[in-house]
Amino acid sequence: MIDWIRFRNTYLQMPWLFPLVIGDRHFDAVLEGRPRTFSENIQRAFEKAFWFWPRVIDATLWAHGAAGKLQTPHNFLEIDSDAKLLLDWVERVCPDRSASIFDIGCNCGRHMINLWRRGYRNITGVDAMKSALKLFADREPDIFAASEVHHDLFQRFLLKQPDRSFDLTYSHGATIELVHPSFDVVAHMCRVTKTHICLLLVPNNVFRREWIKQFAAHGFTSVHCEEPIAPDSDLSLIILRRAVSQ
Ligand SMILES: C[S@@+](CC[C@H](N)C(=O)[O-])C[C@H]1O[C@@H](n2cnc3c(N)ncnc32)[C@H](O)[C@@H]1O
Repeated sequence: MIDWIRFRNTYLQMPWLFPLVIGDRHFDAVLEGRPRTFSENIQRAFEKAFWFWPRVIDATLWAHGAAGKLQTPHNFLEIDSDAKLLLDWVERVCPDRSASIFDIGCNCGRHMINLWRRGYRNITGVDAMKSALKLFADREPDIFAASEVHHDLFQRFLLKQPDRSFDLTYSHGATIELVHPSFDVVAHMCRVTKTHICLLLVPNNVFRREWIKQFAAHGFTSVHCEEPIAPDSDLSLIILRRAVSQ
């Protein structure tokens, strides 16, 4: 039987609508957590009425995560076996220590810190959770200062990034899976990445999609896949490479 949500999130996107509806004030409202204005209440009504209506509100809980809340950076401190698997693949497909590496959803920087210790020196991360970035800066001030760390929503950060700015992009989910399909996060990740995209995904998360098919539509083909990474895991490992002809 067809999975309607997966189908619509993959094939019925309208990415052209996003920049017409969402601007800086919507991004800032999420990051600052200020009360909604009258026009934002109208926007909210459209979001409730139409599943495809552009929105960034889903990031609010994450942006205001902190110690003691459900969304706390303290859940993302350690390199567990899942994170190690992802990082080993990053190193395997991209052994060049001067390569530009992009962590989408870096939180308190556990993967960035580990990559730094493996010798990588050109690392960029973005995350909406201010308390996580502060924890990163407190824990590893030198690595934080030597890396590019941005406090922003993925959507705005990606929209501003030039094409092929990074050699490799990675993400440990659920992270890109939290982005509402009104924003074509896959298209933008492919646009900003030169060669490899390494993902640990929770494929059946709330905004589930045909991930591999979507990446293929934007020129990235799977070179290694573990779906799932272990019989009792909800994570899949997907390693993608830009097709030679692209
Ligand atoms: C489940 S956590 C995973 C964190 C990190 N990838 C790790 O494994 O250590 C999801 C992360 O995505 C961030 N996030 C979710 N939606 C976001 C958005 N639209 N823009 C920026 N950050 C977002 C959250 O703040 C959080 O740090």
